[in-house]
Amino acid sequence: MTVATMLETIRYPDSFLGLSELGKKPTPYKPTYAFSGSYINENHKYYSNCPTGHKGINVCIDIGIEGYLQQGDAQKLYELAYFTADDILELGTYCGLSTSIIAQAIFDSKKEIVFETVDIDKDANAKAQKNVASKTGRAPVKFNILDATEFMDKAIAQGKSYGFIFIDHWHGYEATYEAAMRVKRLLKSGGFCLFHDYNDPANTDPEHVYGVYKGANDALLCDPNFDFYGLFGCTALFRKTV
Ligand SMILES: C[S@@+](CC[C@H](N)C(=O)[O-])C[C@H]1O[C@@H](n2cnc3c(N)ncnc32)[C@H](O)[C@@H]1O
Repeated sequence: MTVATMLETIRYPDSFLGLSELGKKPTPYKPTYAFSGSYINENHKYYSNCPTGHKGINVCIDIGIEGYLQQGDAQKLYELAYFTADDILELGTYCGLSTSIIAQAIFDSKKEIVFETVDIDKDANAKAQKNVASKTGRAPVKFNILDATEFMDKAIAQGKSYGFIFIDHWHGYEATYEAAMRVKRLLKSGGFCLFHDYNDPANTDPEHVYGVYKGANDALLCDPNFDFYGLFGCTALFRKTV
């Protein structure tokens, strides 16, 4: 039995926000796995107090890799990757910020799992590969250049499954909805999926491209096999229950 399967999980259903409330209330990191203490280890704690202000944006962490994650997002990514006993999929590598956090957590947890990340941008991917190697050394990551929906369809056809899926590629409604519908097939029972930019007020603007909030909700909120698990930073966490 792995550490993750021994630990209870904690839901925060009251953290759910209606569309008009997005971005208006603080949604700090809280643990999903009931580990003891406030942090898993020093690397996890680092993201609670790491430098911020990337590109002049106060809430974005600034740890030497281009990207737009908040401290709460980074802590949640580390935790989920650390405790997930099964393979991990990330949609949206960009320059490797979230990828390096997930890879570090896998390395620290001493698990032998497969971590795949997907993006369509070859130039950013070359940077990501360098950035991840410089931050995490030997942590194994499989980089894929492919459209996310295409990757997921292939993965389903190949019978792949994951314990944790991070969705952070194109933030439009269609792409998010397509990913969330495929997550249903790709997640193992008990697995988690985390949507970045779900708790972002841009989702409320009909003129803005963001449709993460609506896309994820339309696919998962009405699905009896999924529970809403909470908001952390600008992310939303759902769990497949059966
Ligand atoms: C918000 S960034 C990802 C940020 C990254 N997770 C981080 O922590 O910095 C979105 C990325 O998704 C990629 N992307 C956009 N549409 C995509 C698609 N249809 N399939 C795969 N990747 C896509 C973009 O090239 C971009 O690198």
